Amino acid sequence: MSREVTLVSEQEKQVQYEYIEKVKEKVALLEAKLSRKPTFCVVTFGCQMNARDSEKLTGILKTVGYEESDSEYSDFVIYNTCTVRDNANQKVYGRLGALGTIKKKNPSMRIALCGCMMQEQSVIDKLKKSYPFVDLVFGTHNIYKFAQLLFDMFESDRMVIDIWKETDKIVEELPVDRKYHFKSGINILFGCDNFCSYCIVPYVRGRERSREVQDIIKEIKGLVEDGVVEVMLLGQNVNSYGKNLEHPVSFAGLLREIEKIEGLERIRFMTSHPKDLSDELIQTIKESGKICRHLHLPLQSGSNNILKAMNRKYTREQYLELAEKIRREIPDISLTTDIIVGFPGETAEDIDKTIDVIREVQFDNAFTFIYSKRTGTPAAAMENQVPEEEVKTGFDRLLKEVQKAARQRAGKLTGMVMPVLVEEINEHDNSLVTGRLSNNTLVHFKGGTELIGKIVSVSLDESKGFYYFGRMEG
Ligand code: 5AD
Ligand code: SF4
Repeated sequence: MSREVTLVSEQEKQVQYEYIEKVKEKVALLEAKLSRKPTFCVVTFGCQMNARDSEKLTGILKTVGYEESDSEYSDFVIYNTCTVRDNANQKVYGRLGALGTIKKKNPSMRIALCGCMMQEQSVIDKLKKSYPFVDLVFGTHNIYKFAQLLFDMFESDRMVIDIWKETDKIVEELPVDRKYHFKSGINILFGCDNFCSYCIVPYVRGRERSREVQDIIKEIKGLVEDGVVEVMLLGQNVNSYGKNLEHPVSFAGLLREIEKIEGLERIRFMTSHPKDLSDELIQTIKESGKICRHLHLPLQSGSNNILKAMNRKYTREQYLELAEKIRREIPDISLTTDIIVGFPGETAEDIDKTIDVIREVQFDNAFTFIYSKRTGTPAAAMENQVPEEEVKTGFDRLLKEVQKAARQRAGKLTGMVMPVLVEEINEHDNSLVTGRLSNNTLVHFKGGTELIGKIVSVSLDESKGFYYFGRMEG
């Protein structure tokens, strides 16, 4: 099975490279017509998976001859969308309206939409009806076909729509344009099989598919040769990596292979599901010199009733035990989490239970989300939806606790000297640079562009809550 997939992928890759050549001709014609290089703008909504997909879109667009711009007054604008909560969808519709006005003034402008939101039929219906000026629409499964879709778009004077329900294909080695030269996301598995009852991801990203270990290693080695020192391994549930490969491999096993890559300094990953986080993984992190001291471990709720209704497949006791084990084995690790407030049937007592867990685990940071009803998920059909006012009260109560816990954890490294990977010039003060500790905390200190992409020792002089002000040593 997996050999066949690889074969198909190899052919598919060739086909796409042929389309890249064909689209180059189309873009050259456009350039001649405009008497300047046509520009493009990729706007990304949602998670790091989408950010990585956007680097793939950018890679193709640059290869075919477009010039990158960060303005939506461009000749090609693509929105890479998210649909995890309804406000993500609303943002897209809002901006799309404004984009239609821009297009009226630039007849050679093309507009494309892709990503998770496009996997929903109701969205496609709405686009056809209310946003007929959109030129190209595709989903999450056929992003590798982007060059071909661009060609179809140039050939057609109507909206080109190509949405697949599923795919078993993983196409390797197409152009990618990285946002940072020193760090990169790497997809290790696509899709999700967990079916948490509130979550739309399994419906829009499809079934779980792992990439082969050797393909991942090859990609990372190539990136390291190209200057990358930090990788972020990406998957909806990285802990279930490798289960369905022809020769199954555990996520911890994959990490140990990646650790061996010379020149690679830091390994991060996102996201872990508590039910699949193994002792083997904890030991592998503990023994590693490269795996960063940060674990994002979504709790969602601290109440067993709600966890059951959410289909999370763990109890609060199991979560607490796991968090305690992680903190015991790797004391310098930072733990962050996601929490949903207002899931159907959630009571004030359920929220009290979540607050208890927050107090006990003392997360370094927690992202709290108001439950959003996603059509097609089991939770959307539940009758006991919580009234908005109650949700708001619960949310405010939770947020206070989250902030209190984070304040208590903040500043614990003050006075220490720690390695920092410098990422960019500080947004507010260009005499400073901004970088990250292994545990993902931001640090600002005096320095210039020559430090970007380097790991340097910084004395953490002053804590400002979620970040430090520091001083570079030696
Ligand atoms: N409503 C609110 N939050 C959600 N999340 C996922 N689905 C929903 C939903 N329907 C949150 C979860 C997840 C994070 C990425 O988004 O907390 O961990
Ligand atoms: Fe949004 Fe989920 Fe898609 Fe990421 S995978 S863009 S969070 S819907």
